[in-house]
Amino acid sequence: MENTQVQALLEEMTIEEKIGQLGQLSADFFPNGQATITGPMQAQHMDLDTLYRSGSVLGISGAKQVRAIQADFLAHNRLHIPLLFMADVVHGYKTIFPIPLGMAASFDPEIVKNASAVAASESAAGGIHVTFAPMVDLVRDPRWGRVMESTGEDTYLNTVLAAASVQGFQGEDPLDEEHIAACVKHFAAYGAPEAGREYNTVDISEWRFREQYLPSYAAAIKAQALLVMTSFNTLFGVPATANQHLMRDILREELDFSGVLISDWDAIGELINHGVAGDLDHASDLALKAGVDIDMMSFAYSRYLKRAATLDAETKRLIDESVLRILELKNTLGLFEDPYRNISIERETATELSPAHLVDAQHAAEESIVLLKNAGQILPLQPGTSVFLTGPLSESNDLLGSWSWQGKSTPDNTIAAALGQRCEVKSVPGVGYHALNEKQLKVALGGAHHYDTVIACLGIPSSESGEATSMTDIRLPEEQMTLLRALAADGKRIISIVIAGRPLDLSEVDAVSDAVVFGWFPGSRGAEAIARILTGEVEPSGRLPMSFPRSVGQVPIYYNQYNTGRPLTHTPNDAENKYLSKYIDEENTPLYPFGYGLGYAQVTLQSLTIENTEMSSQKPMVAHVRLENSSNRDGRAVVQLYLHQKIGETVRPVKRLIAFEKVAVGAGETADLLFSVTEDSLRYMHTDLTNTADAGEYELLAGLSSDATQAVGFTFTNGLKEKSDD
Ligand code: BGC
Repeated sequence: MENTQVQALLEEMTIEEKIGQLGQLSADFFPNGQATITGPMQAQHMDLDTLYRSGSVLGISGAKQVRAIQADFLAHNRLHIPLLFMADVVHGYKTIFPIPLGMAASFDPEIVKNASAVAASESAAGGIHVTFAPMVDLVRDPRWGRVMESTGEDTYLNTVLAAASVQGFQGEDPLDEEHIAACVKHFAAYGAPEAGREYNTVDISEWRFREQYLPSYAAAIKAQALLVMTSFNTLFGVPATANQHLMRDILREELDFSGVLISDWDAIGELINHGVAGDLDHASDLALKAGVDIDMMSFAYSRYLKRAATLDAETKRLIDESVLRILELKNTLGLFEDPYRNISIERETATELSPAHLVDAQHAAEESIVLLKNAGQILPLQPGTSVFLTGPLSESNDLLGSWSWQGKSTPDNTIAAALGQRCEVKSVPGVGYHALNEKQLKVALGGAHHYDTVIACLGIPSSESGEATSMTDIRLPEEQMTLLRALAADGKRIISIVIAGRPLDLSEVDAVSDAVVFGWFPGSRGAEAIARILTGEVEPSGRLPMSFPRSVGQVPIYYNQYNTGRPLTHTPNDAENKYLSKYIDEENTPLYPFGYGLGYAQVTLQSLTIENTEMSSQKPMVAHVRLENSSNRDGRAVVQLYLHQKIGETVRPVKRLIAFEKVAVGAGETADLLFSVTEDSLRYMHTDLTNTADAGEYELLAGLSSDATQAVGFTFTNGLKEKSDD
């Protein structure tokens, strides 16, 4: 449809029809809609006339059902404006990839892009038009359950992966029927709730927001994400859904976002609980003025906008603006030409869970799994080894993780089954996630006693990760630790495999285990991927996208911190000097730092050299990194380049990631990498909230994790920042 036709359609619409477009309903409002409920429900009654004026629905999928609902809808909608079908397609639709935090551990944007592309093709075939993904919220607090949906603690990694995910979901412009529209969420800073408690207040300065949190949303929008979702939280003192500064000044003006802004589930209604709206009428006014186009499940727009529009020309204008954006989205998706986007049961069957998709999901899992410890090179397992498996995850297929509503884990997606294809496996779970039965524990320990090496498959269930699963204790449950301690007391060599959707305090697990493998929730082919890592068929190459604390008391802990006025000096004086920024009962460092992960091969970073010690806007700095693999196994490494600015107008992080690359280094070989550092990498947020680079002294650091680094100094000669006192 031409743009002028979209405009003409708008002009034909009654005020009721316009307001209908702005409301989003859950599946259960539609005849035969099978609901997937992702938020609180209130009993609602809706007459059919109102229903058939709706703009969009969430949580319905399946070619047959979508076709039937769309056909019925079009038959009843006066102007035949198709319904938009939205859903949370987060890390796969039927074929489930690792959770986003796991995919971030791959340090490979192509993996993320491809996972989103596969999810798009399967869900598009299943009738979905828009996914509520990617979530690009920066997270530094593992107590928050939704950390599993994020790509971790680092701004740069977040921006790269945010863009990759949008490109994967949407494909090339124009959007074709194999792709779906991406909705970047949750705008903004939802990942920084106080004390890690779900939906809690976020209170960070605008400077910090812009420096660390905003860039990932900006990257997704730059990658053309067609929608944005508001967040539940408060920011700068005002709930995001009513925050005009955030939505109008920053999102619409600065980031130049012209797509559809949708509220999160009932977030407009919740403005009442936040205490900024007296009632739903007031809430709808605040949200509309902030620029929220679609009201997801609060019914504020559908109940109150009509009256407001009759009273106020500005409200009418804002409604028109929002409706136009929604019609344009429908047009971009091609719904006016084909409201079904060519879906059929045949297409759906051919696409879903195709062998190629499963291969991709397995590959993503293999690239995501992180080897955290490997004392005495206990791993990889030798072919034909007899192994004893225990722990709640040894025979469990709970490997998909939260937000995999359409995914079904197959019965053989268990570590015992996958390892059983390769080794002689005896498996006795012994304990449940949170359950300990003395008799079963005894059987497991009795069995383990006959083996030198035991694989403990431990973790947190998927039901305890994702939305509304904040926790204060991020250690493995006591029941599982009882098993682990008993195995250690029996002198077993222990390989611990941990499945969880968040960084955990693994201090004790690390202390009693010879090897620790972190699997995240690895997805549909996760068990196979774990087995291949354990046996060395695949070289471990996942690296942590978040620091793992030594104890929950260190949270939030992240590598790119600012120096304090009293930093540690890393000399013996630190112990004697009381007045330093430290704990009296714990170290400052994490147990495992950001960027960390081991391989089986011995790959080291040999050298970092730069071609020019001076760089400018016109002349990038060229850096060379050499890796060496001194072992007789082919290796993998993630080379990480960090920057430190010696003197800034504001405080600067001790280091921050500016580039990374995953590389293969053949047995006994070296590999050379070249990086070009431009002025863009030097920019940061100044006190006047401009993002510019300063002339001055810098340090470039390279390493295979955020703490093992080599450094060289260089100068940037012509920063753009004009100091007011110059
Ligand atoms: C979540 C969103 C999600 C929405 C729809 C909300 O509870 O916060 O991330 O997209 O539900 O399912």
